[in-house]
Amino acid sequence: MRRILVTGGAGFIGSNFVRMVLSEQTDCFVVNFDKLTYAGNLENLAGFEEHANHKFIKGDICDGETVEKIIDEYKIDSIINFAAESHVDRSITEPKVFIEANVTGTLTLLEAVRDKKLERFVQISTDEVYGSLGTEGKFVEDTPLSPNSPYSASKAAADHLVKAFGHTWGVNYNITRCSNNYGQYQFPEKMIPLMINNALSDKELPIYGDGLYVRDWLYVYDHCTAIWKVLTEAPAGEIYNIGGCNEKTNMEVVKLILGRLEKPESLVKHVTDRLGHDRRYAIDASKIINDLGWKPSLSFEVGINKTIDWYLENEKWLSNVVSGDYQKYYDSMYLNR
Ligand code: NAD
Ligand code: TYD
Repeated sequence: MRRILVTGGAGFIGSNFVRMVLSEQTDCFVVNFDKLTYAGNLENLAGFEEHANHKFIKGDICDGETVEKIIDEYKIDSIINFAAESHVDRSITEPKVFIEANVTGTLTLLEAVRDKKLERFVQISTDEVYGSLGTEGKFVEDTPLSPNSPYSASKAAADHLVKAFGHTWGVNYNITRCSNNYGQYQFPEKMIPLMINNALSDKELPIYGDGLYVRDWLYVYDHCTAIWKVLTEAPAGEIYNIGGCNEKTNMEVVKLILGRLEKPESLVKHVTDRLGHDRRYAIDASKIINDLGWKPSLSFEVGINKTIDWYLENEKWLSNVVSGDYQKYYDSMYLNR
C-alpha cells in the first residue's frame, strides 16, 4: 500500500485531491497535515473524516520535528506539498507570511524527505512563477522563472529549493506548475467563487482595471488527476505544466456567471487595479499530455456550470465560510476601492 503525506489537504485543491484519492484508490493511505489557516476548512473533507485510509493531523509544515515524527509513525513513502499561502492580493498586503509558509515550509519538508530518504517529493507550484505573457505565446517548462508578485516570488523560491535538494542530495522530486484552478470548495477570495457569492447576494462584482486580464482555467478535478499521474508515473526530476486550454478574460468569465445566475451585468463594477497585475497566463501542457497521457476531462463551459451548481447546492458551506472574519477581509480589500 502507498502511504502519502498530503500537506494543505484541508484547502481547496488539497481537499479535492484527498477526496479523489480516497474515492478512487483502495491501496493508498493518506495522512492529511494542515495548519487550518483561514483557508483551511475541515468542512471541505465532509464525509471523509473517518475514512479508514485517512488520518487528519493539524500542524505546521515549518515544524520539522512533527513532520519527521509523522513520517516515522505512519511509514510515509512520499509527500505532496499543497500547503501554502495562496492568494496574490494577500501577498501584496502581507508578504512576510508567504515567505514563512511557502519558502521555510517547503525547505523544512525537503529536509525531512532527505533525512528520512523518502521515495518522492511532489511540489505543487504555479504558472505564476514564469511571470506574465503578452498577447502571444505560452509557458513551457523551461521558460525562465520571472515572478512578479510576493506570492509568485515565494513559490519560485520554493521551486529553486526543490531543484537544489535534488541536485545536492539526490532527493527524488517532481514539480507541477498549474494554471488557475476552479471548482468545488474554493474559498471566495479567489475570483470565481467571489463573483458567484457576490452575484448570489446581488452585491457588486469588483473587476480589477479593464477586466481584460487573461487566465487559463483548469477544473480542479482535472488538476488532481494530473497530480496523481505525476506521483505514480513520472520519472524523478521532471517538471510538468498543467493547464486547461481554457484562456478567458476576466470579463468573459464574469459574464458567464451572471448569465447562468440570471443576474444583470449592471452588477459589474470596475475598481482600482491590483498592483503589478500580471496581464496574461497561458500554459503549454504538451509534456504531461504526451509523456504521461493526461488530458483535461471537460471544457470550461461545462466546468463553470458544474461549479456554479455546486455553490447553489452548498449554500450552508458558503454561508459558513463567509461568516466570521471574511467580511472584515472583504471590507479591507474592497471598500472604497
Ligand atoms: P488554499 O489557500 O485553498 O489552501 C492552502 C492550505 O494550506 C490551507 O488548508 C491552509 O490551512 C494550509 N496551510 C497554509 N500554511 C500552512 C502551513 N504552514 N502548514 C500547514 N498547512 C498550511 O490553496 P489552494 O488554492 O488549494 O492551493 C494549493 C496549492 O496549489 C498551493 O501551493 C498553491 O500555491 C498552488 N496553486 C494554486 C492555484 C489555484 O488556482 N488555487 C493555482 C496554481 C497553484
Ligand atoms: P485570482 O482568482 O486572485 O487568481 P490569480 O491572481 O492568482 O490569477 O484572480 C484571477 C483574476 O481575476 C486576476 O486577473 C485578478 C482578477 N480579479 C478581479 O478582477 N477581481 C477580484 O475581486 C479578484 C479576487 C480577482
